[in-house]
Amino acid sequence: MRQEIQEALVSRVLTHLAEGTTDTGPAIGKVATTSYASRDRLDRELSQIFRRSALMICHVSRLRAPGDFVTVEVAGVPVLAVRNDHGGVSAFMNVCRHRGTQVVAEECGHKNSFACPYHGWTYDRDGCLIGAPHASGFEEHTPWPPKLVQLPTAVRAGFVFVRLTPTGAPELEPGSFEMIARDLEGWFIRDHVAYAPRSITKQLNWKLVIDIFLEAYHLKTTHRNTIYQLFFDNLGLVDPFGPHTRNVFPKRSIKGLENRPRSEWRIRDHANVLYHLFPNTLILMEPDHAAVLHCYPLEVDRTRIDAYTLIPAPAETEKARAYWDKNNAILYGAIEEDFAMGESIQRGIRSGANESLTFGRFEHALTHFHRNVEEALESA
Ligand code: FES
Ligand SMILES: [Fe+2]
Repeated sequence: MRQEIQEALVSRVLTHLAEGTTDTGPAIGKVATTSYASRDRLDRELSQIFRRSALMICHVSRLRAPGDFVTVEVAGVPVLAVRNDHGGVSAFMNVCRHRGTQVVAEECGHKNSFACPYHGWTYDRDGCLIGAPHASGFEEHTPWPPKLVQLPTAVRAGFVFVRLTPTGAPELEPGSFEMIARDLEGWFIRDHVAYAPRSITKQLNWKLVIDIFLEAYHLKTTHRNTIYQLFFDNLGLVDPFGPHTRNVFPKRSIKGLENRPRSEWRIRDHANVLYHLFPNTLILMEPDHAAVLHCYPLEVDRTRIDAYTLIPAPAETEKARAYWDKNNAILYGAIEEDFAMGESIQRGIRSGANESLTFGRFEHALTHFHRNVEEALESA
C-alpha cells in the first residue's frame, strides 16, 4: 500500500482516538431475516450473484508450474483451474463432455493431461480432448474433438478470479474487482505461498460469515479473553471500493506512532487490514502474513469456508512451521469464536423472533454489503 495512504489511515485512527469516535455511516441499517433463511432467496443469490460475479478462487502459489491444478465446487459448478503452457491460468467446468463425470477428482496436484475416470476421455491443459478410447463410436459427434467448457479467468494481485458463466472468451473482462486489486497489489502477496489450507463447514448462511468479520463492535465481548487485548473497543475504519470494502482494525500499539515521524507509519504493523471482496472472499492482512477465506454457500444455513494462510516463503523448517502453526492457532481460535456467534444468529433467525437484524451506524460495512447484495439481485 502506498505510503501516503498508510499515513492517511493512521492519521484517521489517531484522530478517532483523540476524539473518542470511530467511522460511522449516516444511519442504522436493517436487513430482513428472510435474506438469511429462504431457499428461494439463496437460489437467486447463486444464479444472479455467484454465477455472474468475478469470484476469487485461489492464490497463484497453488498454480506455479504448467500442469499445476486446483479444483473447487462453487455454487454447484465444479471448476478446474490449471496453469497452462502459455504462462497463464485457464479455468474450465470440471465436467466431461461425454457423460458429465468430474474429470479431475483431486483437490489439487500436477498433471500433464486430465483423464476422465469413467471411460478415459483425456483432455490437455487447454481443455481440448486429445484421446478417447474407441473414438470411432463417436464419429457423428460435433464438434469433434470437443473441449471442456471454458470459464473466463483473470489473475490479479496474486489471485485467480473466475466467472462461472461461460462467455466463450478465456479472459475475464475488467470488472469491479480491479478497484480493490490495485490496493491489494501494494502488499506484494502475489509472491507469498499458501500454507495450511483447510475446509471448514459451518451451520450458517454465507452472508453471516461475511457479516461477522466486518465490524469492530464485537471485539470486546466475543473476543474478550483472546485477541481483544490487542485491539480497541469498537474502533475501525471503513472504506468502500465499489461493492468491496477495506476495514482497518487498529491495534493498541498504534498510539506509539503519535510521536514517530509520519514516514515511519506502517498501518499493517499496528492494525489488521481486512478486505472483503464482494461477494464471498475475506482477506485479513496481518503484520507478516495474510489469511484468506473463500465462503461457498451449500444450503441456506450451511456454508463451506476454504481458508489458508499466505506466508512470505515456503515453511521448510520445523521452526518455520511451528511459527506459522502458532499464528494459525490464534487466528482460527478467534474465528471459531466468531463462527459460534454466527451459528447462534442463524438459530435466532430460524426461531422467528426477529423480522429483521439491525446494524448500528458504526456497523455500516454490513449495511454496505447487504445493499450491494440487494442491488445485484435487483439489477439481474
Ligand atoms: S463420462 Fe467422461 S469419459 Fe465417459
Ligand atoms: Fe471476530
